[in-house]
Amino acid sequence: MSAQTSSTAGAFRTAVVPAAGLGTRFLPTTKAVPKELLPVVDTPGIELVAAEAAAAGADRLLIVTSPGKESVAAYFRDDSELVETLEARGKGALAEKIRRAPGLLAVDSVYQYEPKGLGHAVAQAGPALADDEQAVAVLLPDDLVLGSGGGDSGVLARMAEVRATHGGSVLCAFDIPREQISAYGVFDVSDTGDDDVKQVHGMVEKPDAEDAPSTFAAAGRYLLDRAIFDALDRITPGSGGELQLTDAVALLISEGHPVHVVVHSGGRHDLGNPAGYARAYVDFMLQHPEYGEDLRGWLTDRLKD
Ligand code: G1P
Repeated sequence: MSAQTSSTAGAFRTAVVPAAGLGTRFLPTTKAVPKELLPVVDTPGIELVAAEAAAAGADRLLIVTSPGKESVAAYFRDDSELVETLEARGKGALAEKIRRAPGLLAVDSVYQYEPKGLGHAVAQAGPALADDEQAVAVLLPDDLVLGSGGGDSGVLARMAEVRATHGGSVLCAFDIPREQISAYGVFDVSDTGDDDVKQVHGMVEKPDAEDAPSTFAAAGRYLLDRAIFDALDRITPGSGGELQLTDAVALLISEGHPVHVVVHSGGRHDLGNPAGYARAYVDFMLQHPEYGEDLRGWLTDRLKD
């Protein structure tokens, strides 16, 4: 297999972003503003995730949304009037920021009308794929997956390489302390010839810590073979009474579908709750050329109190 064929074999065009949730942990703000639009410094989390997908080669973002959350997809629309106004006022750098999101990739949305779980949300994307799309990426917008030096991790590109080699589906795993493992989908794994790649023999959603098959947990990035949609049609409600993506992956494994994980060693932020969001915000602020130094000084003083 040539290098080019091999990279095409792992490739995907559509990145699905499940964003239909109520954002209960951010109420009352989420009465009016979807949590995916909350800013990390000045940029909504959904744009950071879209930029990651585009950098990995996606040309379409498919947002799974719910009635009332249309502003998430609308955020990606061109606003040429605003761009022109800013440029006329000599604010070119700001105009460039406004152009960034619409320029990343095409954005479409589909509705999830009932909150029946992550598996049900991803299933809504199936009919929106073209016939020749053999794989799809799923990015959970609560999870910011960082490179070792911060910024985009490149983990999706690595996952595409692994799919090109092993076929099937490839997920991103983090090694999580056992006392926190019951918040995650957890993998039963064995080693491969590559240090950062493991073969998955089973997957279980939110196990008790003592029952968890390992400390390797799913963390918001999936590269799924199209076969996932057929599996999603066949699962029944699982953990929390919801249709779980984890259970569809486990069903595929039980039927012999190859599943691997890339164990990512970079950082990660959980934007889905105020504590994780605050860490992400502070982390990005500290790296910001304009605000970083000032915040560092203020925090140092503040922490002395
Ligand atoms: C979801 C998935 C879980 C995964 C987690 C990663 O859970 O169901 O398998 O480990 O995202 O953040 P949630 O956090 O939505 O309950």
